[in-house]
Amino acid sequence: MSLTNEQISFFKDQGYLRIRGVMDTQLCAEALFCMWNALPPNSRLKRDQPSTHIGPFTDDERSTDSLHIRNGYLWQWRAAGTSDLLINLIYSRTITTMAQTLLGEGLRVPVVGGTPMGSRGSAWPGGPTDPAQGNEGARGIYFTLPYGNKAREPDRAHTDGHPFQLGIVGLLSDVPVDGGAFKVWPGSHKRLYPTFQMQYDQPRIPYYSHLPSHKGIVHSEAYLDELARLHEDTQAVECSGRTGDVVFWHHRTAHMAGHNYTSVIRQAVLADFWKTELDQYRCDPPQANMWRDWSQAINTADPTAYSDDFAASQGLKLNR
Ligand SMILES: [Fe+2]
Repeated sequence: MSLTNEQISFFKDQGYLRIRGVMDTQLCAEALFCMWNALPPNSRLKRDQPSTHIGPFTDDERSTDSLHIRNGYLWQWRAAGTSDLLINLIYSRTITTMAQTLLGEGLRVPVVGGTPMGSRGSAWPGGPTDPAQGNEGARGIYFTLPYGNKAREPDRAHTDGHPFQLGIVGLLSDVPVDGGAFKVWPGSHKRLYPTFQMQYDQPRIPYYSHLPSHKGIVHSEAYLDELARLHEDTQAVECSGRTGDVVFWHHRTAHMAGHNYTSVIRQAVLADFWKTELDQYRCDPPQANMWRDWSQAINTADPTAYSDDFAASQGLKLNR
């Protein structure tokens, strides 16, 4: 299964592409089985008791291990990212072919048994590990627990700081509306890409314990302004759906992990794609052609060549 011209055009124009039923549902079930089995045996959470699924994790259940985080409403098992199972699931031949249609030949190959994301390099004491360090597989399995009676919060978009080119989120179980699905801001990739100093990377301020006020990723003024405008003028698309559905998204697409106001856990697998040449072109400034490093198919695609019905099937209502 490869992508249609309409799918390629839509991705080029809107910076995301949802595709139904791409992942093997049997492997999805196996991934969930392994995730639940990775919990300590004395955990309060029981898979067959939905009333125990409501977050947040209590103090005695919290884990800040960057390979298996259970904190607040997040349960992220990154150690699974280089397992045979997860790599077969999210880097399947079908999905890899689709990614290759967008990016072109020369994709980096994930390593079964390699080092998973989060293995090395805490950015500062108690801070996040650098997601680019040691990421030889998928990002891992990411759950969002139901918020229970937590007050509703506004949506806040961001872009990811670590270098890659194409992201994917796959649903391991059905995710209803308002259930914590990945949210994207359509068209944001075209608006944000030029505001960076580097195509696929961005500057960081090192952490110094005696100079603690500034640390981590640096955003340009232009980026912050554009992100603020996106919040004002663009309606996010919520990628809820069924087991096996995926969404591809461009590295510079504004997004967020949705809030989970339902009573079911959001269960997903996240992964990144990039070409082996990423190290050569990650620090180049934004190009006049933002697709310079992508496939011929995407370079020649007409970004208007998709129908209103197709957009609607992607959760996007067009006024054109
Ligand atoms: Fe993100």
